[in-house]
Amino acid sequence: MAKDLRHFLEQYEQDHPEDVVTIEKPVSLKHEIGILIDQLDRERKFPLLRIKNPILCNGKPSEFEVIMNEIGSRGKLAYAMGSNWEKVSQDWRRLALENKQKPVVISREDAPVKEQILKGDDVDMLRYPAYQPYLMLAHPYISLAPMITYHPEAGIDNMGIHRGEIQSKNRIAFLFSPDNHNSMNFHKYEQELNQNMKCAIVAGLHPNVLMASQTKMGYPESHFEACGGLLGEPLRLVPSETLGDNFMVPADAEIVFEGEIKAMKRTAEGPYSEYTRHIGAQRWCPYMEVSCITQRKDPLWSNYAIGRNHAFQGLAREFRVYDIVKRVVPQVTRVYLLPHAGGDDGLGFCFIQIKKTAEGQARTAIHSALTSNYSVKHVIVVDEDVDIYDERQVFWAVATRAQPDKDWIIQTDVMSSIVDPSIENHWGSKAGIDATRPAPPEPFLIPTMFPEEDMKRFKLNDYVPKDLLQKIPDAFRKVETDE
Ligand SMILES: Cc1cc2nc3c(=O)[nH]c(=O)nc-3n(C[C@H](O)[C@H](O)[C@H](O)COP(=O)(O)O)c2cc1C
Repeated sequence: MAKDLRHFLEQYEQDHPEDVVTIEKPVSLKHEIGILIDQLDRERKFPLLRIKNPILCNGKPSEFEVIMNEIGSRGKLAYAMGSNWEKVSQDWRRLALENKQKPVVISREDAPVKEQILKGDDVDMLRYPAYQPYLMLAHPYISLAPMITYHPEAGIDNMGIHRGEIQSKNRIAFLFSPDNHNSMNFHKYEQELNQNMKCAIVAGLHPNVLMASQTKMGYPESHFEACGGLLGEPLRLVPSETLGDNFMVPADAEIVFEGEIKAMKRTAEGPYSEYTRHIGAQRWCPYMEVSCITQRKDPLWSNYAIGRNHAFQGLAREFRVYDIVKRVVPQVTRVYLLPHAGGDDGLGFCFIQIKKTAEGQARTAIHSALTSNYSVKHVIVVDEDVDIYDERQVFWAVATRAQPDKDWIIQTDVMSSIVDPSIENHWGSKAGIDATRPAPPEPFLIPTMFPEEDMKRFKLNDYVPKDLLQKIPDAFRKVETDE
């Protein structure tokens, strides 16, 4: 059996029943779904959600089940790849870029995504459980379905996620950031060839396929091969129905929308709830006309916890930042993009751990990290005795090992994220903090410590039993009172 979304859900439910919530009660895809995710977020919970009876944004019951959070935590992404919490980003790089596997093509008869084929009047995007999680959105949005396009000369596939505003039964508007490869392909079709761009939107995928869609490949370079690396088996492809036999789509997806993005045509897209948890303005954007839908019987649909997802986008960038900084400063030991600062993409803070051997290394690491990606906005560098996965320890280092007048670095007029609400145009500023001790042999105060043998011997559970410990409230979480 090929690895697909259903396979992942089954395995995860078997291995982690405590992290799966099935909701039978109707949940509206307009606002209620956003509130559900927000309230879970406040509890710091991100279970895999199976919403069995969603209500469409137009108030009608949905025919299809909605899945959320299958990629909603670092732990789930690690599980999907057979990795662990700490190594997940390095394993992502290794599998997607060094273990690539060529896809295989299967027949239409064997492809689950061809169980139903809808054309003409049967094409109706408004049937699908796309969501409007926040106020001010004009239409339902597709949030977690990668777009596939092909490079016009090389014929190589590209796969990237774009939010899609469903404006009518067969029209979807898309936002294209200029650096994305689908956007570069569209530029070629429209500006150089004066042609529409064929494309497919693929919904309901195994988390590893979603991860491959977020892996920054060369241009042009196949994401299908990265899927194979992450899945540990070749991605199964099948020819499209209306885009030609050379236009291949994933055979094990739940749904594929086929169509074309129109050259020299634009529509107003937005307002949309950006991952920064602000409502982004309307923009003139390209749109797709859907010509055909192929799907499984009773397809599953995924929505993305926009602005509340704690892992996906930041983690996709983590190994890219690490690779660049490590090349410049080999003393760097770990990089962590703090997931919830700046929404869900690690835009806010990048923590770097270093085993410093000479002065200047931490500062060089700051400059390298800030320029490694337009969206890395703040960098904090700490010593090897600080756990970068625990922000309390990182801020302790900032408080005790950095002097603002000497150790804070500001970069001005650099390219930044287009959805950062605090910038004008694409230019913004960035900051780094060198929170490291002086390099040896310079003296510095020793942090408080314990004898190593006592640390090994002492077990907290011998003094505070596990069940009691679990019941003690999280002292750092704000407690709501009735006042
Ligand atoms: C949930 C989600 C939504 C995204 N929405 C958009 C979008 O609307 N427009 C865009 O250009 N990029 C968007 N991205 C980012 C791209 O998918 C990402 O940069 C990807 O790596 C692009 O790959 P490519 O350059 O190979 O096409 C989104 C990412 C995620 C995870």
